[in-house]
Amino acid sequence: MAAAVATAADTATSRWRARPAYRPGASVRVRISAAVALLVTLALAGAGAIVYAVESQRLEEQVVAEIDQELAELAKLQENGLNPDTGRPFDSVGVMLDTFLARNVPDDNEILVSWYDGRPVKASPQEAFAGTTLFRDTAEPLITEGGSTRIDVPGYGEALVTVQPVRSSTEDGALVIVTYLEESRGELRDTMRTYAIVALLSLLLVTAAAAWLSGRLLAPLRVLRETADDISESDLARRLPVTGNDDITALTRTFNGMLDRLEAAFVGQREFLDDAGHELRTPLTVLRGHLELLDTGSPEEVAETRALLLEETDRMARLVGDLILLAKSDRPDFLRLRPVDLAALTADVLAKARGLGDRDWVLDETAEVQVRGDEQRLTQALLQLTDNAVKHTRPGDTIAVGSSYDGDQARLWVRDTGPGVPPDQREHIFERFGRAAVSPGDEGFGLGLSIVSAIARSHGGSVAVEDAPPQGARFVIILPVPATAPPEEDPWPAS
Ligand SMILES: Nc1ncnc2c1ncn2[C@@H]1O[C@H](COP(=O)(O)OP(=O)(O)O)[C@@H](O)[C@H]1O
Ligand SMILES: [Mg+2]
Repeated sequence: MAAAVATAADTATSRWRARPAYRPGASVRVRISAAVALLVTLALAGAGAIVYAVESQRLEEQVVAEIDQELAELAKLQENGLNPDTGRPFDSVGVMLDTFLARNVPDDNEILVSWYDGRPVKASPQEAFAGTTLFRDTAEPLITEGGSTRIDVPGYGEALVTVQPVRSSTEDGALVIVTYLEESRGELRDTMRTYAIVALLSLLLVTAAAAWLSGRLLAPLRVLRETADDISESDLARRLPVTGNDDITALTRTFNGMLDRLEAAFVGQREFLDDAGHELRTPLTVLRGHLELLDTGSPEEVAETRALLLEETDRMARLVGDLILLAKSDRPDFLRLRPVDLAALTADVLAKARGLGDRDWVLDETAEVQVRGDEQRLTQALLQLTDNAVKHTRPGDTIAVGSSYDGDQARLWVRDTGPGVPPDQREHIFERFGRAAVSPGDEGFGLGLSIVSAIARSHGGSVAVEDAPPQGARFVIILPVPATAPPEEDPWPAS
């Protein structure tokens, strides 16, 4: 009881609990476009960085190769060059260096400087930098030992200063090569700038294309959402337009299918409430009418009315009981599953049913099998069927109960020799409040077969009606019997 109250309270609060505020995030289209833009940016930037690194390395190697070539030429001149004035080998380091300078045309980014007598003497081409103190201070420490160093020349950028000492027995000198690195790097940078512009344009182009394409692809989804937004509870008959043949179309179909079920459920609920209301109103009207007209002075009338009203209240109680049972049948705790011996169940139902009326009661056959089920509910269902059979037969007619098992399904049935159920009524009679031909004065509500059906369904089975030759109806409850799962495993409860 306490649990039931708690559940009801929970449902009530959850119904009224405010829905979390809807915060619209970035649309899928924006996210796709952003992801594409990010990936393209990374790819282009990565490619640019790699090209820049490789090209810088190549430039560096080129500079070193050029310097090596100059030095090789100097070595050649030193070894077997002749003084152009005397026609004999050089006897002075200074003359040799100046001859080298005169003969060598330096590259655009190079200055060759001859250094002897403790100072820079000549520069080729004639460059102001060779006369600066910065140049002197850089080159001087390297003159005796040789080597190279990098400096920053104002106005020119980074430069590589390479010193190659040249010695004779009497004199010391050196060839100094200044290579401006910025010039060739500048070219590379220009190329990279062009690349950046092209990359940026491609990025814009690709992102725009991604936005357009994703917009196009997602358009049906937007239509789907807008239409779904429009469909309100009162207007469940509307359906989404199904176009195309992709997964969004599949989603649309699924959604429409869901609306079908939702609509059916709503309609069913409304009808059910309607029917239940009507059924309850009749006995209430009867009660009220009798009470209104009751003459309390007459003891016989009071007694008569009392009996009548009690009968009406019983009828109402039965209806309410049936409705509660049907409502419960959807709940998981509706059944208490235990192994049920069908042979015993069949015989038991027949024994109980005998009291319902003067009929020729017959046991057709019994199934020697155990199924997992709720014995009480199954008995209740079969008794409903025998009750109906009694209602639709006359004294002396045959009513048979039986069960069978075919290794896959178990069947429980009630057969009678009454008028039977016409084929066009066979679906209708299982609906709630669904009734076909009934004899006048029949007090039923049309809920009996719904209850049978609910019990069968909660067991994973079904119920159907068929002809029982030569005449009459046979109502069969079909229960699935899983091949694995021997029911004996389940111990019988102590109670
Ligand atoms: N054994 C039967 N033979 C013929 N018709 C039947 C039989 N059992 C049920 N029906 C039909 O099915 C209808 C629905 O049955 P049920 O749901 O038990 O409701 P109720 O018994 O209250 O009418 C009955 O009104 C009757 O027309
Ligand atoms: Mg009935």
